[in-house]
Amino acid sequence: MCGITGYIGYREAYPIIINGLKRLEYRGYDSAGVMLYDDGDVHLAKTKGKVSSLEEKVEQEIPNTGFVGVGHTRWATHGVPNDVNSHPHISKSGNLVIVHNGIIENYDSIKQELKSRGYTFHSDTDTEVLVNLIEEMKSQEGVKLGQAVQMALNQVIGAYAIAVFDKTKPNELVVARLGSPIAIGVGKDHEEFFIASDASPFIEFTKDAIYLEDEEMAIVKIGREVRVRKIKDDSLIDPNIQKLQLNLEQIEKGGYDHFMLKEIHEQPRAITDTFRGRLLVNEAIIKLSGLENNMKRFLNAERIIVVACGTSWHAGLVGEYIFEEFARIPVEVEYASEFRYRNPVISDKDIVIAISQSGETADTLAAIKLARSKGAFVFGICNVVGSSIARENDTGAYTHAGPEIGVASTKAFTTQITVLTLMALRLARAKGTMTSEDYRVHLRQLELIPDKVTEVLKTDEHVRNIASIYKDASNCLYLGRGFNFPVALEGALKLKEISYIHAEGYPAAEMKHGPIALIDKDMPVIVIATSKGHYEKVVSNIQEIKSRNGQIIAVVTEGDVTVKEIADHVIEIPETEEALSPLLTTIPLQLLSYYIAVMRGCNVDQPRNLAKSVTVE
Ligand code: M6R
Repeated sequence: MCGITGYIGYREAYPIIINGLKRLEYRGYDSAGVMLYDDGDVHLAKTKGKVSSLEEKVEQEIPNTGFVGVGHTRWATHGVPNDVNSHPHISKSGNLVIVHNGIIENYDSIKQELKSRGYTFHSDTDTEVLVNLIEEMKSQEGVKLGQAVQMALNQVIGAYAIAVFDKTKPNELVVARLGSPIAIGVGKDHEEFFIASDASPFIEFTKDAIYLEDEEMAIVKIGREVRVRKIKDDSLIDPNIQKLQLNLEQIEKGGYDHFMLKEIHEQPRAITDTFRGRLLVNEAIIKLSGLENNMKRFLNAERIIVVACGTSWHAGLVGEYIFEEFARIPVEVEYASEFRYRNPVISDKDIVIAISQSGETADTLAAIKLARSKGAFVFGICNVVGSSIARENDTGAYTHAGPEIGVASTKAFTTQITVLTLMALRLARAKGTMTSEDYRVHLRQLELIPDKVTEVLKTDEHVRNIASIYKDASNCLYLGRGFNFPVALEGALKLKEISYIHAEGYPAAEMKHGPIALIDKDMPVIVIATSKGHYEKVVSNIQEIKSRNGQIIAVVTEGDVTVKEIADHVIEIPETEEALSPLLTTIPLQLLSYYIAVMRGCNVDQPRNLAKSVTVE
């Protein structure tokens, strides 16, 4: 995915656009660019690399003045990240400028057609094709910019969020959306407008925002209300102006060196926010309106299928263990990318739970559409309010973790598990698959989790010391059993994505079926060995590793004696019910990967080749 910003109004556009790009850099950061319009001239600066490189380039190459402009930070899809392929792209005449997030799938055939009409192309991108297609439409007699954009979009196949500027109409911008998000910040008396992929670039300027829906376009013109239309049939739509809840503090680092560290430390608060109004321990009640209103469907469900990607998929795996243990409902957990293409057997007796932090992951979105087309009921668990996935479901629950900006998911994972746990407990109660005493114990223990996470966070210094010992490792193995097997997978993913150390997660007992061959004195093995989680079996696995000279870092329950004697390092977590332990065991693994990555000099918040959410296939 990419990040788009734009401004039109009475303030200098450049500072707004460049600061906006910094806030959107989590969406992609392999190249960046900006267009500023001033006094009849279009000034363009584009560069490979991060927004900081763009700042230097702007300083050296173009005037940074003017009251209108657009900016872009890119995660490359078509064409390698270089200066030429960076956005904005400009049309043949030099009049039209575009920034684009998404993919135009039929760009090649359009390109050939445009070439036959005399257009030439400088980049390898689909976006340069789109801006020239708009120009071609606009060249027709009487066609205005908005119409030209609409005519062009009706010819393209794919996904887009775009902002288009026309040098001959410098007091307006045209924006449109299909599959990729775009928000319009509306200034006082319509004297200024902000365009952005999410609202973070403009929250200090306005709290009024319009989120375009799929297949909508808008013309924003100074001094006039925003006009929103359906791209297909040109019908006018009443723009829905929402009041933003977001504040500046939530999207800043708040004194931490990285967003990831801030987000790791925010987990006690984030989990508490996930509980708010839902977990009523004294009354022994769990309230999740999306579940409550559809209880019959859940109670009659023959099966739950979880669809998700990456960390959200790992949360789904924890959910599988929890749902089956508490509510005795069979659960299958599917990679959304596989599910969508393998003609899965689904019926109206199935409930699909789609999990996504961003709510924009293309594969998860497609999996939801497929499941619904086959009659399944879809329950979404998302963090980003109003995101595409949140809108595409039958019902759902937000995690309320607050903005997660670090590319490596942390608080999203624990809050997703929190929602899944609440759901499973509520269903267990409704189905009578858990005794009322057991139910109450779990509710009480769940309520204590945020304080226990705070306790685990106090291991920070100790984990940092362990990180300093293993920071140069080339490989790492993560082992866990039962509820903590998915935590082993998640620990390994965290390490590989931010430190570039090869890591694998395995169910502890599977080790002897292959991975044990890798173990030698240079192999750190991180083992989750909580006291209630098949403890003796895991202890045997630890012994097998030690007898092959592997290095053991064990996450154990407070007061552990046995593992302490065998392992090279132990990290203690407070005691809790085993089903709730992933909410605690995950924390030291997040810290470990964070500190190892920092010590290796890696860019923790923006790891190479990644983007916060994957809105393309
Ligand atoms: O926004 P989503 O939860 O749908 O994103 C899914 C994955 O792309 C995401 O979890 C990814 O694996 C993270 N980088 C993991 O830290």
